[in-house]
Amino acid sequence: MEQQKRYGHFDDQHREYVITDPQTPWPWINYLGNEDFFSLISNTAGGYSFYKDAKFRRITRYRYNNVPMDNGGRYFYIKDGDTVWNPGWKPCKTPLDFYECRHGMSYTRITGKKNGVEASVLFFVPLKKWCEVQKLTLKNESKEVKQLKLFSFEEWCLWNAATDMENFQRNFSTGEVEIEGSTIYHKTEYRERRNHYAFYHVNAPIQGFDTDRETFVGLYNEFADPQAVMEGKPRNSHAHGWSPIASHYIEVTLQPGESKDFVFLLGYIENEQDEKFEALQVINKKKAHALIAELDTTEKVDKAFAELCALWDNLLNIYKVRTGNDKLDRMVNIWNQYQCMVTFNFSRSASFFESGVGRGMGFRDSNQDLVGFVHQIPPRARQRIIDIASTQFPDGGCYHQYQPLTKRGNNDIGGGFNDDPCWLIFGTVAYIKETGDFSILDEMVPFDNQPGTEVTLFEHLKISMNHVINNLGPHLLPLIGRADWNDCLNLNCFSWDPNESFQTTENVSEGTKAESLMIAGLFVVTGKDYVALCKKLGKTDEAARMQKAVDAMIAAVKKDGWDGEWYLRAYDFYGRKIGSNENDEAKIFIESQGWCTMAEIGAEDGMVAKSLDSCKKYLECEHGMVLNNPAFSKYIYEYGEISSYPEGYKENAGIFCHNNPWVIIGECLAGRGNDAWSHYAKILPSYVEEKYQTLHKVEPYVNCQMVAGKDAFKPGEGKNSWLTGTAAWMWYTVSEFILGIKPDYDGIRIDPCLPETATDYTVNRKFREADYEITIHPNGQQKGVKSIVLDGKPVDGTVIPYAPGKHVVEVTM
Ligand code: GLC
Ligand code: GLC
Repeated sequence: MEQQKRYGHFDDQHREYVITDPQTPWPWINYLGNEDFFSLISNTAGGYSFYKDAKFRRITRYRYNNVPMDNGGRYFYIKDGDTVWNPGWKPCKTPLDFYECRHGMSYTRITGKKNGVEASVLFFVPLKKWCEVQKLTLKNESKEVKQLKLFSFEEWCLWNAATDMENFQRNFSTGEVEIEGSTIYHKTEYRERRNHYAFYHVNAPIQGFDTDRETFVGLYNEFADPQAVMEGKPRNSHAHGWSPIASHYIEVTLQPGESKDFVFLLGYIENEQDEKFEALQVINKKKAHALIAELDTTEKVDKAFAELCALWDNLLNIYKVRTGNDKLDRMVNIWNQYQCMVTFNFSRSASFFESGVGRGMGFRDSNQDLVGFVHQIPPRARQRIIDIASTQFPDGGCYHQYQPLTKRGNNDIGGGFNDDPCWLIFGTVAYIKETGDFSILDEMVPFDNQPGTEVTLFEHLKISMNHVINNLGPHLLPLIGRADWNDCLNLNCFSWDPNESFQTTENVSEGTKAESLMIAGLFVVTGKDYVALCKKLGKTDEAARMQKAVDAMIAAVKKDGWDGEWYLRAYDFYGRKIGSNENDEAKIFIESQGWCTMAEIGAEDGMVAKSLDSCKKYLECEHGMVLNNPAFSKYIYEYGEISSYPEGYKENAGIFCHNNPWVIIGECLAGRGNDAWSHYAKILPSYVEEKYQTLHKVEPYVNCQMVAGKDAFKPGEGKNSWLTGTAAWMWYTVSEFILGIKPDYDGIRIDPCLPETATDYTVNRKFREADYEITIHPNGQQKGVKSIVLDGKPVDGTVIPYAPGKHVVEVTM
């Protein structure tokens, strides 16, 4: 095992991760912004900003997969005599006397010190404002007067992040800027159809500027040694085409002990078509002036920052646990919830692994993300459900993705992923249980966004269920379509052309026998939820109809979905088994074990226990449970993308963290608390952080989508951090199934499943208009609530009936 160096640590009191060495094994990033204006920022200030849509409204440029990695961002260059340095070490990489990056809740603070000067930058996006604030504080800690030359730097993106990286015959001629006082405006394409521009401002007089990249950097120089900076002389360049940038030049004199603040603002403005211009080719700056005026002093910025912190105080006050185990508490109370919010906002669009140009919002992804987020800001979850359902088709099928800016289904990908419809039930039920808001079911929601086609949301749920029932295969199990949750299990694809996408190429579905046990389990889980919902609504006929379908599905799984020691994964196009002992490779898959144990199919016959044991035996390793075992060693034409990955990576036997919680929930339902906990702790970031910072590579404060599995070259290496369904599933698992605080229609159900070493713990849970303080006494039990006392009175059963106000609950197991 290679030496596991540490690059940082948690600071729970401030809800921060503190990075103390800029040379992390991979850029460790954070997200700024909560609603419209967003930024990604690495621990060396790399990254970019966009408005709503990372593809269509990219504000600053970023080059993915660059050399060196993570080059480009918002940079401050400080020239102190002959020394040029950056507070975040990059891009100059001048050795610093001190470096620290604190990633907090929607903000990042980077501090560097060099030769007696401290430069500290606080980055955040104020609530409800379309801008990124960069508050730079320069402090002279030396005994001499310091004469510093300060250069700021941002590089504009020409709005469409995809064409920005390819259409240079056009791009090099369109760039336009305006400069007014200390503000640099970027207005490329504003003269024609765009009604938006961006600006970069500083609240101090400037002594120079640059807006043309090559003039500032020099054609043969780099971000690490821009000519203007190295010579200490701005060029006052005005960009015409080529590559517009924004750089302010400020001369700063600091007496010993003196400190000065500078507020830099990266802003975004939209104007009405008929209010675009002040004069020919002069943009209307009214809104920019107004935005600047709201944030032009340290006091105003500090106030905006305090508001942001207060928002997070409130959000993180909704569910709070005290177990005495710091590693658990910090993930539950801080980082897991934070990651859920970020994933809800971004779906899978923009991270340091998702380039922001490739994907919109996923139908299934967003429904799952919602479950991690709904307790935080329910109205936004409500809107999301309506948006998602609006991309459904009348037969219950749906677009696999939609674009956040337009909310339209994405035609490039289309539909046909047969698990998608069920997720709408999953998301909607979670929303209603959290809020008690059944009115959402009466909302009128269109098909494919076509006005005039509206039916109630409840009707959308019904056709979602029907879509599964109407697409059963020869074993009466659900047909898989293009794929189920596993995008890479493409059983109707048959591709030998490397230029085709496995997901979108012509699907040979005529005569297919390809069925999915994952969808079968998902259908039973969501079907039971649907039945309960129908009963709640008094729709007894509909409840009975669906109960029959659920029972039939259970019977089909028991009959043709069981392999003896575990659930099969699927049947292929020809009706041959996948995920069976009869196969040479990939004899067992995790997804069907997860969903069929969550559905408790055949529990009474010992199937659930056997399946869970098989997960331990064949899938588990030191770093978590792999997706399948043994890994595929060759491409299988009938299976598609799953067999395209080398062994141990991604869907071919990687530890796909997203699906580990399914098995953990299966363990919890089966009452096996020790096993549930041991699976959970293996992929819990705080435990990994302690052991494997170098090996794991990616951010130690959030989950990543995939950790290389036991068959990989480097087991334990993480990839694809931040934007993953893992966030919501980890949250759902720990909050509802391990700690056992489960929102329900009429109250909160208490049903923990714990390791026998668990000690007493308390959960503070705000729920609708109520505020519960729930203390659990496990008494060495893994499962089973013996008694509940609510405000001093015993409660029958395991549901605390909802009533507004403050309540104290004592639970004995
Ligand atoms: C990615 C996708 C998700 C899919 C999973 C498994 O996480 O975002 O939709 O279910 O991969 O293929
Ligand atoms: C899944 C996989 C990802 C792939 C996508 C489409 O989301 O995780 O690797 O890019 O499917 O193929």
